[in-house]
Amino acid sequence: MPSLKEISKPVEQHLKAFNRKFRVAMKSKVPLLNIITRYILKRKGKQIRPLFVFLSAEVCGGTTESSFTGASLIELLHTATLVHDDVVDESFHRRGLFSVNALWKNKIAVLAGDYLLSKGLLIAIENNEFNLLRIVSEATREMSEGELLQLEKARKLDVSEEIYFEIIRKKTASLIASCCAIGAASAGADQQMVRQMHTCGQAIGIAFQIKDDLMDFDINSQTGKPKGLDIKEKKMTLPLIYILGELDYLQRRKIIHLIKYNRNDQEKVKKLVEQVKISGGIDYAEKKMMEYQRQAIDILSGFPESEAKKSLEELIRFTIERER
Ligand code: IPE
Ligand code: IPE
Ligand code: MG
Ligand code: MG
Repeated sequence: MPSLKEISKPVEQHLKAFNRKFRVAMKSKVPLLNIITRYILKRKGKQIRPLFVFLSAEVCGGTTESSFTGASLIELLHTATLVHDDVVDESFHRRGLFSVNALWKNKIAVLAGDYLLSKGLLIAIENNEFNLLRIVSEATREMSEGELLQLEKARKLDVSEEIYFEIIRKKTASLIASCCAIGAASAGADQQMVRQMHTCGQAIGIAFQIKDDLMDFDINSQTGKPKGLDIKEKKMTLPLIYILGELDYLQRRKIIHLIKYNRNDQEKVKKLVEQVKISGGIDYAEKKMMEYQRQAIDILSGFPESEAKKSLEELIRFTIERER
């Protein structure tokens, strides 16, 4: 599999310019905020979303000034979401470092996340990009809805496969769909093309989150995030949902009981993870993930051939083959 660096080749210069702008956009006159944003910038993450914006723009006619605004808006929003998500998930590690809430506590993390979100919105407004703002605002609403639905389901532990897909489509796929749509729109593509790219991005995003959920089960993956956190937080993800559907009533009750009352018992959780593996939960989730990646590749195949299209295809593959 090509590395992210190799995949980025056709838009390498754009990413460099983007990073300069992103750094400036994160700045604040408030000293505490500046310390926090500088800390966040120490580990930038994969920056897969700006890469989706630029590659989609290239595939749809070429990168413009709007593509840069779109990429900054999206990465700021993404960063804000991660800072908030770690508060909600009570997670103390992110990108191999301590999370913002681990170092500065929840109150400050919530406000810092809000600050980043508002900076994203302002960038769009300062550049008169109301079209981009519309695409992203919808995604922002869906992300909140998705995270709230997930919280509600963690209380009741009654997640069906259908609800799982609704949650991940909203909390993760909506933003990646926006990346591809914004890329297309910023390149001047027509409505139909923008819609197609949006649908392609949505399929990518669903595969992306299934992969993220699989890595939470996999002690060998290099995410820089805690492992096994989903069960600890009572988040039922696809591998687990699948095996629950395959088990009889009593076995199912046993697992629900474990998640409700013994989810901090490392030995018991380890056994549950084994059971999920043996019973085909991982295989099933992988199969579903491949189906969505196929959908995305199929939509993309309707676009004209280019270096950028090849890279976009590789990036879709990276989404499900990555170890981080
Ligand atoms: C993490 O996204 C949040 C999810 C939607 C699973 P990434 O894995 O893209 O995070 P970074 O930006 O590379 O750290
Ligand atoms: C990601 O869900 C959804 C977001 C919108 C951040 P997770 O809670 O699984 O993301 P990670 O694993 O913390 O990055
Ligand atoms: Mg989380
Ligand atoms: Mg996760």
